[in-house]
Amino acid sequence: MMIYIQDADKPNQGHIHSEACSHGVSPQGGLPTIRVAVLNGPNLNLLGTREPQYYGTWTLEDIHNDLMLTAEKFAPLPVEIHFVQTNHEGAIIDAIHAEAARGTQAILINPGAYTHTSIAIRDALSSFHGLKIEVHLSNIFQREEFRHKSYISPVVHSTLSGFGPLGYRMALTYVLQTLEATIVAS
Ligand code: DQA
Repeated sequence: MMIYIQDADKPNQGHIHSEACSHGVSPQGGLPTIRVAVLNGPNLNLLGTREPQYYGTWTLEDIHNDLMLTAEKFAPLPVEIHFVQTNHEGAIIDAIHAEAARGTQAILINPGAYTHTSIAIRDALSSFHGLKIEVHLSNIFQREEFRHKSYISPVVHSTLSGFGPLGYRMALTYVLQTLEATIVAS
């Protein structure tokens, strides 16, 4: 399982996540750090070469870099993004539990093929009380019938499907705008 954290103001300094990350308040301005997790499931490590007719040519790293640039646009809001990609169902569930434990406010998730099979990932997401957005690069409703059913959609706030890599950017923009507004209001 690949886990690393990049801070929005240091996009080239992602580091392997090996310990609980607990800084809650930014030293500049006292704004609370917004924590977002981007979880990608099986085969999404192959983006760039995998069926480009469905998934395009961006690698997962390209998507991560684009998300860091998106987060930078919210400066001075401190944003910490935790990226996880795993090919294992249980590891996705463990990651959701870990994000809840570390106080992550929002999860963007592309569960890959587990979208269409995994009640266990759905249950894990149900127990996560922050914002949850499901993202698919391809439009799952225009593909094989077995992809039309998502076990995930009923337990997330919204699903973006068919926007390619921009779906992740749209989802992150939505969660950062929403969370920023709650900070400004409080
Ligand atoms: C996917 C769609 C799924 O049906 C497929 O199994 C994937 C990728 C997407 O991003 O379009 O692995 O989640």
